[in-house]
Amino acid sequence: MSDWQRTHTCGELRESHIGQTVTLNGWVNTYRSYNNQVFVDLRDRYGVTQVVFESEDAELQKLANSVGREFVLSVTGAVAARLKGKENAKLATGAVELKASAAKVLNACPTPPFEITEFGNELANEDIRLQYRYLDLRRKTLQDTMILRHRLCKTIRDTLDAQGFLEVETPLLGKSSPEGARDYLVPSRVYHGEWFALPQSPQLYKQLLMVAGYDKYFQIARCLRDEDLRADRQPEFTQLDMEMSFIEMEDIFRVIENLSKAIFKDCLDIDIPTPFRRMGYDEAMLKYGSDKPDLRYALEIVDVGAVAAKSEFKVFKDVLASGGVIRGLCAKGAADKFSNSDLKPGGKLSEHVGRYGAKGLAWMKVEGDKLTGSIEKFFPAAVQQELRQVMNAESGDVLLFVADKESVVCDALGALRIHLASLLKLYDPDAKVFNILWVVDFPSFMYDAEDKRWVANHHPFTAPRDEDIPHLDTDPGKVKAKAYDLVMNGYEVGGGSIRIHSPVVQSKAFQVLGMDEETAKSRFGFLLDALKFGAPPHGGIALGIDRWVMMLAGTTNIRDVIAFPKNAKSRDLMTGAPAGVDNRQLKDLGLK
Ligand code: AMO
Ligand code: AMP
Repeated sequence: MSDWQRTHTCGELRESHIGQTVTLNGWVNTYRSYNNQVFVDLRDRYGVTQVVFESEDAELQKLANSVGREFVLSVTGAVAARLKGKENAKLATGAVELKASAAKVLNACPTPPFEITEFGNELANEDIRLQYRYLDLRRKTLQDTMILRHRLCKTIRDTLDAQGFLEVETPLLGKSSPEGARDYLVPSRVYHGEWFALPQSPQLYKQLLMVAGYDKYFQIARCLRDEDLRADRQPEFTQLDMEMSFIEMEDIFRVIENLSKAIFKDCLDIDIPTPFRRMGYDEAMLKYGSDKPDLRYALEIVDVGAVAAKSEFKVFKDVLASGGVIRGLCAKGAADKFSNSDLKPGGKLSEHVGRYGAKGLAWMKVEGDKLTGSIEKFFPAAVQQELRQVMNAESGDVLLFVADKESVVCDALGALRIHLASLLKLYDPDAKVFNILWVVDFPSFMYDAEDKRWVANHHPFTAPRDEDIPHLDTDPGKVKAKAYDLVMNGYEVGGGSIRIHSPVVQSKAFQVLGMDEETAKSRFGFLLDALKFGAPPHGGIALGIDRWVMMLAGTTNIRDVIAFPKNAKSRDLMTGAPAGVDNRQLKDLGLK
């Protein structure tokens, strides 16, 4: 070992080391210099140790005075107790300090573009931090998150290995798989004009593995989807992808619930209750306006169509006449929190629902035994009473309504519900509270009114419920799928289904989707072929690893849990990708 190499990490020294001579290597986190003393907080990924330079050695003191933030140092010295009253309880090493007797600058560093310590500091602008991601990754919060992510993946591998699952890798260069987003395409150099697609998920391959007899498969797999990004969406993300043979939905629920238990125990030392609650898709949409309801708070949407029909309010009557719905939220005790200008057209709340397509937000306040606002005059006294009853309204509450076709009402009130919960502080975003549920009984097909055709809600291989198979021929809208989403605190953190393994049912599903044999063959021919060669009953699920880490780490920004993410506009600010390429490269690919 060279004389500059570390004997301990910067997070290791305790009172038990006092008197020992040790060497630390690390980065200068902060430094303070006084007349004949320089204090340096030396950092590595294990922690921070205070180093004191107060030597008689003029050369050493000169070196100490020459360092700056983020210099890389080697320091040798004796571990000493800190002066009484100067201990730092916030640091694991806070009882001791290192009295430097020798030091070496291993590397200098120009003034960093932003401050890396985060004690009491506002974080620098995210784009700057993404441009210098390797500096931002030195931050303790990010390091803790990367460690958490490692722990999560390790728990997954250990737990599944113990149950006989095999991790199998599947190709990145393949044919487009039907997850419904846009593909990233890779041109072939060998076959000009032909393209690979990067996988949106290993979906088809994992089904082929079932045909091949690998009955318990998993993979921590990278997935690529060219979609518009959101706070919980990246173009490249990671799934825990799983598939099993000879199973039913209940088996998948059990495996995932037990895995979730292990994850929470290992990562956060929390015991979560299982089995998870289950909720039908219809109930989720009706009461929460979303197929991923956040159940950390109640605030349920109420259908008031029957009561509204007895009012004289033209907007409501017209919507009902055209087959739409009228639903509302009762914001408890919020009457004095929203002024009439917040509520009126163009006001803050009405603007919020407008973003989701609502044409307006009708409202009333409950004041004593009266309803007030602008539309209460259209409600006869008895109807007002009835409305109060169905909405469970009391004095001081605000009643908010959207009238429109059902999908718009769900979107608008679902979003308003989340917005109100945050404004009215109905939950503590920092509390380690995890509300987990299965959403089940999704419709197999959704009608695309614009294109006048049925589209698959999940993918075309999702099995219908046995009892719904007859509806495939007569009423596809009635068919519910053996599909399930895992939802945590309002985020979709997983989803999957039992697959169709019967060729007859499969061809019926293609018929509903208006896909003739030729099209189906050209898109999924290899899978359809394989399914003929003795496919076992099978099904699976994929968990969004990034979103799981977000939940466990308590962040709402997916970029906080990925070492090298793209920014919100799909750019890698550090490398500059995407970027142009040489003409020569294009020529090789037959693109120029
Ligand atoms: P699905 O498309 O629902 O299912 O994806 C599974 C889970 O992956 C996560 N996820 C994402 N996370 C971050 N960024 C994204 N762009 C992104 N897209 C999806 C979500 C989601 O629940 N092959 C099927 C699974 C199956 O049927 O077995 C699939 O990919 O948490
Ligand atoms: P108006 O009749 O246009 O003056 O609107 C009266 C109130 O009804 C206003 O508060 C509007 O925001 C609201 N409103 C208008 N259209 C709708 C709708 N589709 N759903 C709910 N409220 C609406």
